[in-house]
Amino acid sequence: MDKTAINQRMAALSDIMAATTLQADESLDLSNTHLKVGVDLGTAYLVMMVLDTENRPLAGSYEFAQVVRDGLVVDFIGAVDRLKVMKAGLEKRLGCSLEHAVSAYPPGVPAAEQRATAYVLESAGLDCSKLIDEPSAANGVLGLKNGAVVDVGGGTTGVAILQDGEIVYTADEATGGTHFSLVIAGALNLSFEEAEQRKKQSEHQQSLFAYIRPVMEKVASIVDRHVQGYNVEEIVLVGGTSMFKGMDEVMQQWTGIPTWIPQHPMFVTPYGIAMQDK
Ligand SMILES: Nc1ncnc2c1ncn2[C@@H]1O[C@H](COP(=O)(O)OP(=O)(O)OP(=O)(O)O)[C@@H](O)[C@H]1O
Ligand SMILES: [Mg+2]
Repeated sequence: MDKTAINQRMAALSDIMAATTLQADESLDLSNTHLKVGVDLGTAYLVMMVLDTENRPLAGSYEFAQVVRDGLVVDFIGAVDRLKVMKAGLEKRLGCSLEHAVSAYPPGVPAAEQRATAYVLESAGLDCSKLIDEPSAANGVLGLKNGAVVDVGGGTTGVAILQDGEIVYTADEATGGTHFSLVIAGALNLSFEEAEQRKKQSEHQQSLFAYIRPVMEKVASIVDRHVQGYNVEEIVLVGGTSMFKGMDEVMQQWTGIPTWIPQHPMFVTPYGIAMQDK
């Protein structure tokens, strides 16, 4: 797929993920539709997305939650409670029940921790139909043949290198958007929550850039280290932290590899997770 096709696919999420009301959507008749559901338990956001059989997004929901840290479930009860509420909201909106879902884990997370993710889903009333690693999920949306998918989330930066359409290398390291917020909080004497808010407002990003640049360069240096020895033609940046203005330029300058960001980068991985549901 080329950039335009990927962006068209991602553009379909604009209204769906922005919908704050959980009123039933009367225009949907899903009585004969098989639904595909994805759950992304991230360090910063829980995201749930529902697609139809043709992978068209039907509904989705996300919220800031600190129940998982770098792929490890640190607040099991909290994660289950939040997911139950999300599931109920989406069921109301869609007018049908959601029974199964796929979830994902960052590369390198041990099998026991992967199972904890599945238990969260099961305890929230969702059969866990499959667990997949996050970069493979993201590349289901992007369809990269030769290049690197870099997912800069809240807690970590994940790297997946593709050659001839196959993932040949993955890595995940603990630097992400949470570190951006911590740096801003320290520099401006704000609470973490205030820094997190300010960071996400695009009108503040230019003035915050000087503080953030070293952390961005750290992320870029992590990526640069992991792509050594591979012929990487392009880097696609996904994950919420890719939305900080200038991430693509810093990445491209540091690595010397053409870098771009699709629309709604925060939802690429959750979308790809849902695509894996049967
Ligand atoms: N507009 C924005 N500008 C900059 N950063 C943003 C923006 N929106 C969200 N973020 C940041 O993106 C991060 C969340 O991204 P994402 O949902 O991809 O991470 P996650 O999946 O929860 O975490 P991880 O993958 O590390 O477990 C947070 O640190 C958040 O502050
Ligand atoms: Mg993530």
